[in-house]
Amino acid sequence: MSIFVMERHRMAFEIIATGKAIPPNRVSNDDLAQRIDTSDEWIRSHSGIGARHIADENTASSDLALAAARQVLSQAAEKTGETPEELALSLDLIILATATPDYYGSPSTACLVQAGLEAKNAAALDVTAGCSGFIYGLEMAAGYLCRRSERKRALVIGSEVLTRVTNWEDRSTCVLFGDGAGAVLVEQTGAAAGGLLRTILGADGAGAESIINRRGGSRAPFKAGETVKTPSVLEMDGRAVYNFAVKAVTGTIEKLLAEENITIDQVARIVPHQANARIVQAAGKRLGIPEEKFFLNIEEYANTSAASIPIALDELNRDGKIKKGDLIMTIGFGAGLTYGGNLIVW
Ligand code: ACO
Repeated sequence: MSIFVMERHRMAFEIIATGKAIPPNRVSNDDLAQRIDTSDEWIRSHSGIGARHIADENTASSDLALAAARQVLSQAAEKTGETPEELALSLDLIILATATPDYYGSPSTACLVQAGLEAKNAAALDVTAGCSGFIYGLEMAAGYLCRRSERKRALVIGSEVLTRVTNWEDRSTCVLFGDGAGAVLVEQTGAAAGGLLRTILGADGAGAESIINRRGGSRAPFKAGETVKTPSVLEMDGRAVYNFAVKAVTGTIEKLLAEENITIDQVARIVPHQANARIVQAAGKRLGIPEEKFFLNIEEYANTSAASIPIALDELNRDGKIKKGDLIMTIGFGAGLTYGGNLIVW
């Protein structure tokens, strides 16, 4: 066993507070059906989605991320007795997972949040791992905190304004996406056990073209004088992603259980990436896991990519649906293609 693993097991990386930000503009399936050739019945039966929240044109990912981060800090303040400002100064790291950064490449959206919070002591970076970004970010935060004895706290955020890269002419994708942000505060508490127990991260870059935004990057930059038919938008091969996702979800659940040597009965809740309720149902059926074990809020928010898992965690936490000591499993998959899962003692 490496020193890294041994050290990791002597410390607990606990989630001590959660938050979220959801744009107020709620657009139901029926609202969409007035503009696009679709129906509430089709969207619900194919995805489980009933509505999505759409950010106004002045709102970017960093705005939602900052609002979610502020909620986290005020919840943490109630617990620790510190002020939100003191908590912001105590942050050592801000990791922000997004597929829709405010700016491509520079600066990172995390740096904009760091400035907004005046978290002057925090390093800040973005993670690009599609809808698995929050799962990747949690593991990266724990790895960073564990290597530095003086480092104690990290903010991990998932934030998306996906509707800005949505092709509204493509009914097979535009009905699926929504906007929002979720965030958690991770603290290295020194408890002997608990917190983030185990993570699995994976990728299959051969599937890169299954979810892709082709324009605007260094491969295909916009050129002076060019007239574009559509803005820079996400293309998705829904069938390919569906097949990948069911395998990724079942494989990751099985691997997490096997590596931790536990059974599914010991897991209080599985919090999957909210991309399509049918993917979760298919995976649950294959593994014989009851549907109630999975927490789904896709009906209200649609697919918010990297934000979907932290939004779900915040809902569960605020509604008192998870309690201290519960074993929580997150499972995600998305652009890259990427996949992964965390096992967390709450
Ligand atoms: N309303 C009405 N009809 C529609 C719509 C719509 N919004 N969209 C497609 N249809 C029609 C199609 O035209 C097609 O009609 P046809 O048979 O006459 O040609 C029919 O419905 C079936 O279309 P499919 O694309 O085959 O539908 P499918 O059952 O595969 O469902 C879906 C599509 C929901 C996209 C599914 O493939 C899926 O969920 N895939 C996974 C997507 C995913 O999980 N993405 C996550 C990552 S996204 C990210 O990372 C940001």
